Amino acid sequence: MEHTLMVKPETLDDLIKILHQIFESDNVNVEEVQSIMEAYESKPQEWKKFAKFDQYRYTRNLVNEGNGKFNLMILCWGEGHGSSIHDHTDSHCFLKLLQGQLKETLFEWPDGKAHDEMIQKSQHILRENQCAYINGNYNLPRK
Ligand SMILES: [Fe+2]
Repeated sequence: MEHTLMVKPETLDDLIKILHQIFESDNVNVEEVQSIMEAYESKPQEWKKFAKFDQYRYTRNLVNEGNGKFNLMILCWGEGHGSSIHDHTDSHCFLKLLQGQLKETLFEWPDGKAHDEMIQKSQHILRENQCAYINGNYNLPRK
C-alpha cells in the first residue's frame, strides 16, 4: 500500500487511524511516521484522559495497541522527572511532545573500562508538537 499523500491528522483518533494504515505495511517509512506524528497538533482535551501524572515518577499509559504492530502510549513526566539512562536497541521509538518541554541527553556508549561516570555526548530539547525518532544508537531529532 502506498502512502505518498501527507495526511494531516486533525484529532488523536485520526492519528490512530492513520498509524494503523501505515503499520499495515511491512515496510514502514520512518520519516512518514515522524511527519504524521508531528502534523497532529496537540489538543489536551483529546488526550488528557490518558495522562495520569504521579508525584514521584513518570508514568506510561497505553492509548492504543496498534493491532499488534505498535503501541501508542502517553508518558507523563512531571516537572523535574526523568527516566534513567537506557537504550532502545530492539525497539523503534517515536517520541512526540504533547505538552511542555523535554530534555534528552545522549551518552557515549560505555567502553567497558572502569569509568564511574557516563560521558555526555549531546543534549537536545524537544518542544511541543515535535517528534523525535530513537532506535539503538541512531537518533534523528527534528528541527
Ligand atoms: Fe527512551
